Amino acid sequence: MNSVKISPSILSADFSRLGSEIQSLEKAKADLIHIDVMDGHFVPNITIGPEVISKLRKYTSLPFDVHLMISPVHKFIKNFADAGADIITIHPEATDNLIESIKEIKSYNKKVGISLNPETSTEKVLPVLNLIDLVLIMSVNPGFGGQKFIQNTLEKVKILRKEIDLKKLKVQIEIDGGINFENAKLAINAGVDILVSGTTIFKENDGNLKKNIQILKTG
Ligand code: DX5
Ligand code: ZN
Repeated sequence: MNSVKISPSILSADFSRLGSEIQSLEKAKADLIHIDVMDGHFVPNITIGPEVISKLRKYTSLPFDVHLMISPVHKFIKNFADAGADIITIHPEATDNLIESIKEIKSYNKKVGISLNPETSTEKVLPVLNLIDLVLIMSVNPGFGGQKFIQNTLEKVKILRKEIDLKKLKVQIEIDGGINFENAKLAINAGVDILVSGTTIFKENDGNLKKNIQILKTG
């Protein structure tokens, strides 16, 4: 059993020095960098865009796990691919044609993620599981860090874990939102491959990134 990977969300980082924060995360043994892109339309918050991501690219060789909470999303996929995203995750509600948007992401040789909000059923992603690389289960309603974990989202992890294992697919399950040292164990036991965490990694143990990543990793 591979150990769970950690994708720290830089939404909780110091936005005045994101480059050095990303370097610190790499030194602290993060596996990926989770970048939350918000447009103030799909979610009630605004963060960063492709220009900033392209400037951050030179600070690490870790994969950029880019979570697009923007709508409409299709026409911006190229911008994020060109900016240096490695995984481009979109919400099915943000595109008129999910298959076309999946193809668009693949056309730039990027990994494809589909994100399910707490209210969005696994039915939205089951038909395209064979086409994608990652399912991002939202365990909070998207838009802000520091929210409370919604435990029943673990049921979706279990459904997807069963389906992926049954069909021997290479899709990874990532969970995002309110992850802390207690519920990380529940998520790992439910079958996630990647944990996203912002607040817990940046705030716990006086912001000891390495220690917090290690605690999450060992579950
Ligand atoms: C919320 C974002 C999450 C969030 C996680 O919309 O998608 O990635 O930043 O932050 P915490 O771990 O603080 O809930
Ligand atoms: Zn996210």
